[in-house]
Amino acid sequence: MILRVRLLLLLLLSLVALTMVESEPVSIYDILRSHGLPMGLLPKGISQFNFDETGRFEVFLDQACNAKFESELHYDRNVSGVLSYGQIGALSGITAQELFLWFPVKGIRVDIPSSGLIYFDVGVVFKQFSLSLFETPRDCMAVRSDNVRVREQNMVAGDIYKLQSEVDEEIFARAVI
Ligand SMILES: *[C@@H]1O[C@H](CO)[C@@H](O)[C@H](O)[C@H]1NC(C)=O
Repeated sequence: MILRVRLLLLLLLSLVALTMVESEPVSIYDILRSHGLPMGLLPKGISQFNFDETGRFEVFLDQACNAKFESELHYDRNVSGVLSYGQIGALSGITAQELFLWFPVKGIRVDIPSSGLIYFDVGVVFKQFSLSLFETPRDCMAVRSDNVRVREQNMVAGDIYKLQSEVDEEIFARAVI
């Protein structure tokens, strides 16, 4: 009899524990991790986000902000993209600084199995970083919402890259001839 009561109690306790685990809210960081991506891709403190079964996500920051990694990343107030295992596509709302210019990051991916590297698609090139930089979410410093300036700079940066690759192509073409 006593054994039965104990068993019942144990069962009840484990049920309680189970529901507690289940009701723990899933964070956007958990979702990143479950897709094989490092949590530090997004800054600290995000509690508002949407995520649906197609992989589409949207996160809402309190304010646009910058976080310093090897180069600086700028996060708009709203960041969205499509998650699949090991990558984010159709990314919008993150720009990366390179040589004083800001490039929109269009996608991010890691190697599977992991090579310890992470790749940012900034349009013309993939920029690679060490994965360990993004292990933990960073503090993000608020910046003035200066999207227009960022966009103008982006265009300039894109044009420079385009120009450079056209020049390269021409040199290559000449070399072939
Ligand atoms: C961010 O998303 C919210 C909700 O969809 C929208 O109301 C708001 O205008 C967006 N903000 C910016 C800066 O795009």
